[in-house]
Amino acid sequence: MDCISNKDYRDKNYRKEIEKYVKSHLSDKRWNHTVNVVSEAEKLCQMYGGDMEKCVTAAIFHDVVKELPNEELNALVRKFGFDEKYIDSPNLSHGKIAAALLKHEWGIDDEDIINAVSYHTTGRAGMSKTEKIVFIADAIEPTRVYNGVEAIRKATYEDLDRGCLKSLTDTVEHLKEKGVSYIDEDTLRAREWFEEQIDDFRKERDGNHMNSKDYALLAAETLDSKKAEDIIIFDIAEKSSIADYLILATGLNERSVGALIDEVEDRLAQEGLLVKSIEGKKESGWILMDYGDIIVNVLTAEKRDRYNIEKVWADCNTLSWEVKGNE
Ligand SMILES: [Fe+2]
Ligand SMILES: [Fe+2]
Repeated sequence: MDCISNKDYRDKNYRKEIEKYVKSHLSDKRWNHTVNVVSEAEKLCQMYGGDMEKCVTAAIFHDVVKELPNEELNALVRKFGFDEKYIDSPNLSHGKIAAALLKHEWGIDDEDIINAVSYHTTGRAGMSKTEKIVFIADAIEPTRVYNGVEAIRKATYEDLDRGCLKSLTDTVEHLKEKGVSYIDEDTLRAREWFEEQIDDFRKERDGNHMNSKDYALLAAETLDSKKAEDIIIFDIAEKSSIADYLILATGLNERSVGALIDEVEDRLAQEGLLVKSIEGKKESGWILMDYGDIIVNVLTAEKRDRYNIEKVWADCNTLSWEVKGNE
């Protein structure tokens, strides 16, 4: 077949042609696996909003050379100029070779599809959704029965990244147990990358497990770093049912009161706590933020003197905190 390019993977008839070619190059067992990877990928596309046509095209082709004899695989590794590490290493080379055939002999230029085929065994750092879906569909399609596959399936249906991470981690452990000394760099980097992704995800979702005291301290620190003065955190939990902590701070003028409120709102939101309501206009010189468990009051010195809120809470304990100084 000549080198062609720019073929449309969204063209159903062309995909049928590819499918026919793959089927004619595989045993019934391997073809059955391929069909199952395709349907697993379709299912995951629906769950996670993946690109169905991309995933299906990659899934159809991913194992096309899996059953070629070793010498033929080696010849293809040389033909496409791949690294020597792929010689006599069919497990690692079959994805790379399939990707090159799909690109150069079937004219599929879409990088996402090519990468999904190329990295279907190893994974890699920075995988796209298409790559993740094909990678994990290959690992969990219904006829797969290896040790631990159920846990990987469960993780995948809860969270695509967690499923991929579990599969990569199990692969690395399994290879180590088998005494394999060489583990592909892409697999190791992919595992690290997913660990980072999932950490971020967890932080975002759980807001770092901070309690109302942590948030009150963070609000005070934020105010302090932005030049607010006379910051006091009252522990009002015992005296009042309205909140656990009440924070008072003075801003230089009306404008700075507004700016301080914005800072606190942004900083606490970064840690997962969203303000319930904000009372008082920016130019009024007194703004109150209600977070449910904590209340933040920022006032000008003039307003603070006039309303003397301190007096209301004078018999409450205050929370001591470390003044770090202005930014
Ligand atoms: Fe494979
Ligand atoms: Fe496969």
